Amino acid sequence: MVGGGGLAALGIDRLFGGGGAPGGAATGAVPGSAGAALEEFGSDTVPFHGPHQAGVAVPTQSHASFLALDLREDVGADDLRRLMRVLTDDAARLTQGLPPLADLEPELARTPARLTVTFAFGPRLLRRAGAEAPAWLRPLPAFGIDRLRPEFSDGDLVLMIAADDEIAVAHAVRMLVKGARSLTTVRWVQRGFNRSYGAEHPRGTGRNLFGQLDGTVNPTPGTADFDGVVWIEDGPAAGGTSMVIRRIHMDLEGWDLLGRAARENSVGRTLDTGAPFTGSGEFDEPDLRATDSLGFPVIPAESHMRRARSDNPDERIFRRPYNYDEAPTGDEVSNSGQIFLSFQADVDRQFVPIQRRLDELDILNEWTTPIGSSVLLVPPGCTEGGYVGETLLG
Ligand code: HEM
Repeated sequence: MVGGGGLAALGIDRLFGGGGAPGGAATGAVPGSAGAALEEFGSDTVPFHGPHQAGVAVPTQSHASFLALDLREDVGADDLRRLMRVLTDDAARLTQGLPPLADLEPELARTPARLTVTFAFGPRLLRRAGAEAPAWLRPLPAFGIDRLRPEFSDGDLVLMIAADDEIAVAHAVRMLVKGARSLTTVRWVQRGFNRSYGAEHPRGTGRNLFGQLDGTVNPTPGTADFDGVVWIEDGPAAGGTSMVIRRIHMDLEGWDLLGRAARENSVGRTLDTGAPFTGSGEFDEPDLRATDSLGFPVIPAESHMRRARSDNPDERIFRRPYNYDEAPTGDEVSNSGQIFLSFQADVDRQFVPIQRRLDELDILNEWTTPIGSSVLLVPPGCTEGGYVGETLLG
C-alpha cells in the first residue's frame, strides 16, 4: 500500500509537478533546455508488499514488458507454490533496488526507477493447482472485430514488469525468466512505452500513437470509487483484480488520410486538449444530449467515447494503455498500436459489455484491429515472508 512515505518513494511530487527537489536527488541542467532541472530518479522505489500488487494503481511508468509464460507439461501444485515463492522473492528484491540471489549483473538492479512486477494467473495455472477460479477467468467471447493471433494471446502466468527506465525492465525480465525457466517456457513478450520520465511536466494523461490523450475518463487510484471498480471483494482472490490485455493494431497509414475534424469526430474529443466537443477542458463532463443547429448530436453517435460510455455504473474499468511500435514487416510502413490494458473486479460484468458495444459500433474500429487477447487473474499482494498467489495456491 502507498502511504505518505510511499508517495515520496513514488516520486509523486515530481510526477505531478510539485515544487522542490527531493532530498538527495542530483540536479543539473538538461542540455539545450534553458535551465530545466534533470533529477535522478533511478533510485526511486515502489513498496512491494501490501494488500494489493503495487503495479496496478501506481502512476503509469514509462516502459513495460508483458511476459507470458506457459507451464511445462508435468508442472503440478507443489511446483507452482515453489515457483511463486522464488519469483516473489526475486521481484521483492528487484523492485527495492536489490539484486536477487543469483544475479550476475547486480549493478543493473541498483536503479529500479519505480520498478513494479505484477503477477497474473491464466485459467490453466489455477486448474493445474487444483485451485478455485472465478467464472470470468476464460478467453473473452469472440468479437467480430477480432483478428487474434496465438502468439499475442493467452498465457498461464503473465508478468507485467514496468519502470521508468528500460534497463531496469530488461534486467528484471531476464532475472524472472531465469527464475522460471525450469518450469515454464516463454509464450510471448510484448513491449510497451509511454512518454519518458521528464519529457512532460507535469506528467498528465498519456498520448497514444494517433496523438489522442488516452486515459482521461478513469477512476482515480486511492479513492473508494477506484477500490470499488478494481479490487475483488470476497473469496480467495480478495484484494486482487482481473487484467485484460488486448494488443490492438493501429492503422497509422489509414489514419494519415483523415482530416483533423474526422480524427476528432472518431472519439468526440479535440486532439489538442482532449476536451469533449461540449466542453473546453480535458476533464469537463461531456454532454451526450447536446445537439447542433441541425439537430445532430454534437458528440457523434458512432464516436468511441459515446459507445464506450454506459449509464450502468457496473460497466466501468480502469485503463492503463501502453503504446507499441515495432519494425514493419512485408509491405507495411508501420507496425504500431496499443497494448490496451484494463483492470476490473469482474471481467464479465464490467469489461465484456463495453467491448460488446464497441464491437457492434465504434468508428475507431475503422483504424484499429485487436490482434491479441488475454484474460488473467491478478492475485492480491502479500506480506513480507509470504508469496504472491498464496491465498489461491496455498
Ligand atoms: C487502439 C484502441 C483504442 C484507442 C486508440 C482508444 C482511444 C480512446 C480515447 C482517445 C478515449 C477518450 C479519452 C479517454 O477518456 O481516455 C477513450 C475512452 C475510452 N475507451 Fe478507448 N481506445 C481504444 C480501445 C478501447 C477498448 C478496447 C476499450 C474497452 C473495451 C476502450 C474503452 C474506453 C472507455 C471505457 C473510455 C472512456 C469512455 C467515457 O468517456 O466514459 N477503449 N479511448
